[in-house]
Amino acid sequence: MAEAKLHAVTKRFDDTTAIADMSLEVGHGEFVVLLGPTGAGKTTTLRLFAGLETPDVGRVEIDGIDVTTVPPAERDVAFVFQQYSLYPHLTVFDNLAFPLRAPGRKRPEAEVKKRVQDIAEMLRIESKLKNRSTVLSGGEMQRVSIGRALVREPNLFLMDEPLSSLDAKLREDLRVELKRIQRDLGATVLYVTHDQLEAMTLADRIGVMGEGRLAQIAAPREVYDQPANIYAAQRLGSPQINLLDIEQLGPLPAPEGAARMGLRPEDVRLNGAGVEGRALTVEHLGVETVALLEVGGAHVHALLDAGARLQEGDAIRVSARPGATIFFNQEGVRMEPTTPTPANPPNEGATPETALLLACIEAAAKAISDNEAEIEGLDRAIGDGDHYHNMKRGAETLLAMREELAAKSPDEALKAIAKKLVMTIGGASGPLLASYFLDMSKVSGAAGPWSANTAAAMATAGAEAVKARGKADIGMKTMLDVLIPVAQSLTEMAAASRPHEDILTEIPQVAETGLLSTKDMLAAKGRAAFLGERAIGHLDPGSKSCAVIISAICETVRSRAL
Ligand SMILES: Nc1ncnc2c1ncn2[C@@H]1O[C@H](COP(=O)(O)OP(=O)(O)OP(=O)(O)O)[C@@H](O)[C@H]1O
Ligand SMILES: [Mg+2]
Repeated sequence: MAEAKLHAVTKRFDDTTAIADMSLEVGHGEFVVLLGPTGAGKTTTLRLFAGLETPDVGRVEIDGIDVTTVPPAERDVAFVFQQYSLYPHLTVFDNLAFPLRAPGRKRPEAEVKKRVQDIAEMLRIESKLKNRSTVLSGGEMQRVSIGRALVREPNLFLMDEPLSSLDAKLREDLRVELKRIQRDLGATVLYVTHDQLEAMTLADRIGVMGEGRLAQIAAPREVYDQPANIYAAQRLGSPQINLLDIEQLGPLPAPEGAARMGLRPEDVRLNGAGVEGRALTVEHLGVETVALLEVGGAHVHALLDAGARLQEGDAIRVSARPGATIFFNQEGVRMEPTTPTPANPPNEGATPETALLLACIEAAAKAISDNEAEIEGLDRAIGDGDHYHNMKRGAETLLAMREELAAKSPDEALKAIAKKLVMTIGGASGPLLASYFLDMSKVSGAAGPWSANTAAAMATAGAEAVKARGKADIGMKTMLDVLIPVAQSLTEMAAASRPHEDILTEIPQVAETGLLSTKDMLAAKGRAAFLGERAIGHLDPGSKSCAVIISAICETVRSRAL
């Protein structure tokens, strides 16, 4: 695998400038997603890397080598095209085997067979191997195209909307699978999509493209929270970010020279204070409510809880969550906020359970950052290197939500956390963490005091969520080796009505024992099997995070004597 770069590239077709003085770097092992509307220049960018187009100006580099004039066949890149392109006279097997039999890359036939079989299984087309490629459905053809790229290990994968012709379920499955394969291979991928959910979940970085240029390239959450400009702000989020006059919601601390104000629908508040408005439409969508509001002649979308009791025609007061407004200057470029949001918003007014939840979040975030060096070291030794990063982003996300969470019941707060995490954390971790919090919210109780039984039910629900979603099991060197024994001990101790003090002392020990067991785990199954020898003698980084968080939470509960 290699890094790939465009240096100040311009590409024209007659009088269309498809790419305008664009520079882009895809790091070694990085997954970069190009997101943008039709005609933005996404396919042209991929074709420049593949050598199917030559720049009019600028340079293309792969693996540190200038390949601007190197023909496609000599670039060692694999391309999955927007329209699948299979050899119609060949069977599925021969289509998949083709890249491995190509002159100059010829592999022994036994290896070809094994490789093709593995890939076909992964993409669930093994029963079609003998079919001619012309008799497949569109979705199957697309999977064969993806398979053809995956059979070999090129320097660079280029994928042009590879999942767009698949149905929703297969699309989700393949998205998860593709991310896993990329991590396992350490593959460098440049991937094009129109689909923001795909971009959010797959990308290490999203490159937002418009009119042959990069409007912004950054981690998904950064593009979402700190869009470089209005154009980038509008590419992520559904409903789209609200764009308002800076005084639309009353006097706000706008920086000097601000011309427009952006406010994400989930940051619109309807809680008594604010500017008068009216609900035009209210859609209850099950997990959330989307409302279109009218405020001083402007339309504002609001994303509210499922239980919001708003009705069409209701008179309301609209405000912005403090610190959530994004200001843009006359040119549409984002401006730094003048007054930083307070680092420690008070947890005032929260119920005791919600206040405890917030205190636990703060303690967990601190525990993660206090153990940064060890967790990162472990992840570098045996993980894919982004565990600490994801935990840190998760902690930052939760900390930033404190004020919003303080107004909610614990179950609503946990649900809000789940929803936010899906949006902000990419890869496999986002959905996994989200289902962890979502399932806890189902047993945390809408109101009423928490007991040891509540804690046991929440620990069990969380562990089960990870088990179900993470497709793993105990004994596989995953965080389940900590979560499951902790949930079991908590359940037993709660059932036996053991004193809280005992529980708070013993649970961190159970977590520590679970953590230590990951050190000696035989590289036999699942993740451990993939890691092989490399896994033996190392603690699992996920388990380490869990153990430090569990001890921090026990300490917090003890200090608050709830
Ligand atoms: N071979 C070509 N000849 C002429 N114009 C072209 C050619 N290829 C691309 N273009 C033009 O260059 C611009 C960028 O096209 P490109 O295919 O890169 O867009 P895209 O972002 O991939 O769009 P889509 O999402 O529709 O696939 C468009 O205006 C397109 O019409
Ligand atoms: Mg295209």
